[in-house]
Amino acid sequence: MRTYRLAVVKGDGIGPEVTEAALRGMHAAARRCGFSLDAADVDLGAERYLRTGEVLDEGTVSALRTHDAVLLGAVGDPRVPPGILERGLIVALRVAFAQSVNIRPVRLYPGVQSPIRGVTDQNCDLVVIRENTEGLYTGGGALAHAGTAHAVAVQNSLTTVAATTDTVEFAFRLAQARRRRVTLCHKTNILMHAGQLWQEVVDQVALRYPEVEHDYVHADAMCQHLPLDPGRFDVVVTDNLFGDIISDLGATVQGGLGLAASANYNVAGTAPSMYEPVHGSAPDIAGKGWANPAAAALSAALCLAGLGEREAALCLEAATASVLAELPSLAGPGMGGDTAALGDRIAARVMDVDPAQHTGGDGSLMSALSRIARERAAAVI
Ligand code: NAI
Ligand code: MG
Repeated sequence: MRTYRLAVVKGDGIGPEVTEAALRGMHAAARRCGFSLDAADVDLGAERYLRTGEVLDEGTVSALRTHDAVLLGAVGDPRVPPGILERGLIVALRVAFAQSVNIRPVRLYPGVQSPIRGVTDQNCDLVVIRENTEGLYTGGGALAHAGTAHAVAVQNSLTTVAATTDTVEFAFRLAQARRRRVTLCHKTNILMHAGQLWQEVVDQVALRYPEVEHDYVHADAMCQHLPLDPGRFDVVVTDNLFGDIISDLGATVQGGLGLAASANYNVAGTAPSMYEPVHGSAPDIAGKGWANPAAAALSAALCLAGLGEREAALCLEAATASVLAELPSLAGPGMGGDTAALGDRIAARVMDVDPAQHTGGDGSLMSALSRIARERAAAVI
């Protein structure tokens, strides 16, 4: 039987609760589709940092590298100053494993109510492809004369043609398998240097994908178009900061952070990809069982797709969507079950769901990502 080695970083706050729920669904999908998952817990996050003073050591990075994929819950803790874990762990792993593309689906599932009037499952199925290692997130810069009247802060933004091309190329590949439309989102009118580089890369890559249409929307205008007319978008490609912001807006449109999944994707397959819900550790509800596990379960489905396991990915996605459609509320004490109970319900549903009913066919993100993973594996052999 095929076995995949999965490293599991449950992390902090609601991270362990949602990850355990998602893992139950993932194991069920593997069972249904005839393969298995060897899941190993990796101790990283606030507790370890507070105990040892260490965020991420070389030995752990090397151990993680030997796995087929990494599943992450969330990190962040009120006892730890902001940035230490988020930058020191998540951003560091994205860079160490060359996860240069961040995949964030914005899909409203049937039966889930969007807070935006007029948005339905018929007109809300787009994917934000965010450059994941550069832009303002490289962290370069300085704060001089801090705390004085002469304080000066410089925060550098870095854009390389290599990472931009990887990201844009992936966006076009994905669009080719979906509705064949790529939208570049940037601020070319103000951030003229980086903007010009992005636009030139899009124009170049587009030449290789003549069937894929492409257009452009400024990041601020996107904040109007995405909630009011999501149906005009298929694949949106954008830089690190704009992607972070517009994909949270997308999360709201699709029903909230409890439903938003993501993948930190190594396109060339040179290191494991990392799959995580978009939300953080939610200390305000940690330990209460109020966290919706759907975002983690859908991230786990993306993980199965990234491993090339299309049917398992579709079953887990369909089961999650089907359970979501039954929930009286999408978060909090009124969900109709706590986090663990919903995880059990998703896992049970995986075994008998009809994936075709819920998952949007060959053009769905799960199908497209599985196909890309299979093509990559075939190319390596
Ligand atoms: P958050 O995403 O943890 O929470 C924002 C709000 O959404 C909270 O009211 C929370 O209760 C709610 N929420 C989040 N996930 C939910 C779920 N699955 N079901 C129901 N409700 C949910 O963001 P916040 O509060 O800004 O950050 C908390 C900590 O998480 C901070 O330390 C932050 O730095 C960290 N963080 C970590 C991320 C990661 O691990 N990738 C991403 C974002 C934040
Ligand atoms: Mg964010």
